[in-house]
Amino acid sequence: MAEKIRNYINGKWVDAARGKTFESRNPADNRDLVGTVADSDATDVDKAVTAARKAFREWSLTPAPHRGEILYRAAELLVKRKKELGELVCREMGKVMPEAMGDVQEAIDMTYYMAGEGRRLSGETVPSELPNKDAKSVRVPIGVVAQITPWNFPIAIPSWKMTPALITGNTVVFKPAEETPVCATRFVEILIEAGLPPGVLNMVHGFGETAGEPMVRHPEVDVVSFTGSNPVGERLAGICGSMHKHFTMETGGKNPIIIMDDANLELAIEGAIWGGFGTSGQRCTAASRLIVHEAVHDRFVKMFSERAALLRVGPGSDKKTEIGPVISEAQYRRILDYIEVGKKEGAKLILGGNALKKGKHANGYFIEPTIFIDVQPKMRIAQEEIFGPVVAVLRARNLREAIDIANDVPFGLSAAIYSQDVNKTAVAERDLNTGLVYINASTIGAEIQLPFGGTKRTGLGPRDAGGRGGALDLYTQWKIIYRDYSGRLQKAQIDKE
Ligand code: SIN
Repeated sequence: MAEKIRNYINGKWVDAARGKTFESRNPADNRDLVGTVADSDATDVDKAVTAARKAFREWSLTPAPHRGEILYRAAELLVKRKKELGELVCREMGKVMPEAMGDVQEAIDMTYYMAGEGRRLSGETVPSELPNKDAKSVRVPIGVVAQITPWNFPIAIPSWKMTPALITGNTVVFKPAEETPVCATRFVEILIEAGLPPGVLNMVHGFGETAGEPMVRHPEVDVVSFTGSNPVGERLAGICGSMHKHFTMETGGKNPIIIMDDANLELAIEGAIWGGFGTSGQRCTAASRLIVHEAVHDRFVKMFSERAALLRVGPGSDKKTEIGPVISEAQYRRILDYIEVGKKEGAKLILGGNALKKGKHANGYFIEPTIFIDVQPKMRIAQEEIFGPVVAVLRARNLREAIDIANDVPFGLSAAIYSQDVNKTAVAERDLNTGLVYINASTIGAEIQLPFGGTKRTGLGPRDAGGRGGALDLYTQWKIIYRDYSGRLQKAQIDKE
């Protein structure tokens, strides 16, 4: 049954001001209408930002451990509703059930983790060079945060962004992806039920141009966090730069796995299957390039394509399915276009390459696991993010060449190497120019207690999730406090006569 999905502004569920709606449909069966959703514009955004601004002072003065208790209760509710939420992720986004449950688990982990930050949020206390004087730094919240999230992790990524913003005392205006508004709404409902006061968290549904961009341009928004496409991220970065807003973005990858001649090939194949075709290749960290040492290339390709040919494609709700649909018709067409590009560029298609249209696939967006070999490093299918179940295999003569190929793309999110030689993996760990490096593991599956993000055109600004350099750095600024209790004028750096 389709739900009516509304905005959440200043503690109330409301329709979009202009009364318009859009639909969210199941990508595995587009006859299934999941939600009818408020289609918002600048008027709704303005109300949400105004509410967030009004709530900021009181929320920022609420002791952080109390804010943490609310997040802790939210984590408990997520645990209780994990299955129900997983089923919704599967229905609205298309993930197979184990991955849909993993999406929710990641939000559980993140929410507990940030609840704990309520009793940490530590700064530094250092000695002063002068007697009877204290010197310390404290984290302070920045203000109103606008968050724009993607559809591929419809519960996990909102949790990466929202929980650190809230624990540090900021208020939030949230625009989830238009493909997964029902999942986002369930997550927001949980945070509200856990006890967030009105105005602290506001949600505005809609599209990038009509709701997202007015949010970013709103003068009362102090911080913007965006995950999505590169062209949009770069435009938003320009707006934020010109308006002096704090900004972070995560916009994709072209992630390689290097498979060396001494690799455990069975293990490497498992990693390449999971990284290349898991979530139908729709992870920013998907292993879309395999760079294989020439000595094992042919054997690897044979084993890999035989294993990939066995993958079962279908609705995520079917227990036997390993690869679900892709998210939308637009994405489906884009992936099929890239497959044509690969053929025209002269890469050799050895598996898949087609849409599936019959039987259980008739009303969804299903694409066969697709493998190209003889891919050259400068081909578009080796350089551009496809975000689908398409893997490009490239050949390398040695480790140096493999690393150079791996780094020779505009993105730098995740990279992996399979090798049993500790020295080779150490060189790769040092020289791969990516935010995440995996040794003898695939490119996907980052954990929330460390920052998530990348180098080059993958990202800008502090990273998402936990750990040093993670999201706490985006949502707080440092205040430095000196307290002089000597009762006389003391002058730092000035020599005494
Ligand atoms: C992502 O790629 O967006 C999710 C993180 C991961 O699987 O590493």
